[in-house]
Amino acid sequence: MPQGVTDRLEALRAQIRLHAHRYYVLDDPIIADGEYDALFQELLALEAQYPALVTEDSPSHRIGGTVVRTFATVVHSSPMLSLENIFSAAEFSAFEEKVQRFLKTEQPLRFITEPKLDGLAVELLYQQGVLSVGSTRGDGLTGENITAQLKTVQSIPLRLQGNSDLAIPPELNVRGEVFLSKKGFHLLNRQRQEEGEPMFANPRNAAAGSLRQLDSKITAQRPLEFFVYGMGNAEVVSACGQEEVFGALARMGFPVNPLIKVCGTAQEVADQYQHLLTVRHTLDYEIDGMVVKVDDLSLQQRLGATTRAPRWAIAWKFPATQATTVLEAVEFQVGRTGVVTPVALLRPVEIDGVVVRRATLHNQDEITKKNLRLYDTVLVQRAGDVIPEIIKAIPEQRKGLEQPIIFPSSCPECGGQLVRATGESAVRCVNGFCPAQHLQKLIYFAGKNGLDLEGLGKKNVEQLVRSGLIRDIPDFFRLNVEQLAGLDGWGDKSARKVLEAIEQRKTMALSRFIGALGIRHVGEVTAGVLAEHFTDLAQLMAADKEKLLHIEGIGEQTAVTLVAYFSDPAIVQMVDQLSQAGFAIQPAQVQVQVQPLVGRVFLFTGTLAGLSRDEAKQRVKALGGQVASSLSHRVTDVVAGEKAGAKKKKAEELGLDLLSEADFLALVAQEPS
Ligand code: IVH
Repeated sequence: MPQGVTDRLEALRAQIRLHAHRYYVLDDPIIADGEYDALFQELLALEAQYPALVTEDSPSHRIGGTVVRTFATVVHSSPMLSLENIFSAAEFSAFEEKVQRFLKTEQPLRFITEPKLDGLAVELLYQQGVLSVGSTRGDGLTGENITAQLKTVQSIPLRLQGNSDLAIPPELNVRGEVFLSKKGFHLLNRQRQEEGEPMFANPRNAAAGSLRQLDSKITAQRPLEFFVYGMGNAEVVSACGQEEVFGALARMGFPVNPLIKVCGTAQEVADQYQHLLTVRHTLDYEIDGMVVKVDDLSLQQRLGATTRAPRWAIAWKFPATQATTVLEAVEFQVGRTGVVTPVALLRPVEIDGVVVRRATLHNQDEITKKNLRLYDTVLVQRAGDVIPEIIKAIPEQRKGLEQPIIFPSSCPECGGQLVRATGESAVRCVNGFCPAQHLQKLIYFAGKNGLDLEGLGKKNVEQLVRSGLIRDIPDFFRLNVEQLAGLDGWGDKSARKVLEAIEQRKTMALSRFIGALGIRHVGEVTAGVLAEHFTDLAQLMAADKEKLLHIEGIGEQTAVTLVAYFSDPAIVQMVDQLSQAGFAIQPAQVQVQVQPLVGRVFLFTGTLAGLSRDEAKQRVKALGGQVASSLSHRVTDVVAGEKAGAKKKKAEELGLDLLSEADFLALVAQEPS
């Protein structure tokens, strides 16, 4: 084994560890993503070449790979307990008094407060600084061994950081919560919807489902996150209090929640609870309360635990976000890809300060599974910013008047045929001309992933379509002030504002445009991948299935869908009209660089032997030149290939210089600098 390889591997791992920590834990990267990727790729390649040199703590485990048939059992070093719940300041005072009574003291206690994360508790065991076993909580005494899955969670250190004043303990036991951010959850669900897979009800379920994948490669694709909240053997870092424990954990490389706060009095604890309650909706992850712990570790030890929960900590939960109401009707909505989604219309009920009138029912299977009937009394839940959902029916409240919920047999909007593909839970309207689908596509294009205009929400788009001002996407770019200002509820000012914003969007990045089209199987991520591979829309439109399949991240289904989509004459026409309406795709990065062919206009005639006409045009454009289709005074260069005909002759008559294929190739061989 060459020593150079071992050294290089070690250096790569150290660098990757450092940069992953800066990126995923500190949120403060110091190198570009591309540079990080290059290091990672180099590591993977070297390890593939020397598999014997793969270490347990190598960052390459982040991408998963181990597949197991079942999870092995892990006995926890000490029981993973749960927490007693309280809901009010009065109950918190009672808790404090109980603790004081237990400790026989009247001194005010120092507390540490932490957001109660709504994810899954895990235990991580580090031996000689290396993550060796990771497990779920399970029944508290034993859990499942999910080490490979946990190694894919980017912010969980695979090796602890140490320095001169922080020795790495031979054994360290930490606990914390694995969760999905709200953004990660929505992204995952959107992908699943596009792929016709059942959606997760909330981030917590999605995180649980992701962690318990037998194939850790799947876990690796889920953007799981982690916050540490405790240490099983705090004596090893010689900390006196929980606050110091967090300090030590942070220095070892663990992500510590930034909202953790030490409170000297019960009043401060109550204030912090109010604070968390107000900021809760602004966080990108779900919390369902606040955990309050006695900070002093020796006091924690003295207090000990009951069989269920520690006496030194309590969960002060946020008010319940559930309520019961009546399911009054079910509406069937047709989405932009034709999926028919049942939506529950509820007797309005207030949950967590918001009046809830609707709840998603996902699909037919969901209705069957929950055995829901019309006029049932149902338990409704609102969790964070997730669409409210029906947890269950309450059959005890049935009066005998309830009715079965009947799924329509044809599209409720256009009467078209409904199809349910085998293995999918989604039912789709397959009429390509379904007006409801079209409307949803237009709403989508105007929405967050497309034009992203404040003054152009769902209601406005509906109004524009109803009034006939908008029939298809290009119409957005043809609107004028008179038309808009003349509409109900619009004025000169609001019309101008929207038009100005649309004007700004007349150039759009290719990835945004592809995403905004709302093509099935093509979400934000896929759109980004496509935009990276094609410098312009024409190239993407011309790509065949094989070409698409060569792109990493594009599968069979997506490739087939894309080819079908872009060969639809209606789409080709739509794209044409877009450019006529003044819309353009933002030039790819190459074109903002110095471009040697700026100002030159090329005309091709005859056939080129070494490259296709499209490719030739592409090269000209990439270098800043333009391409003409007929001879005019604009043309500066005529490229004459084999069998060049009339155009060549005319060019000669006009005294223009002719380029041979070889001349042309030499010209475009230069890279944009
Ligand atoms: S400490 C001995 N701190 O809540 C109890 N738990 O209801 C150790 N949780 O299973 C728990 N955030 O999954 C603690 N900051 C936090 C927490 C937290 C969420 C979860 C944890 C635990 C459950 C108990």
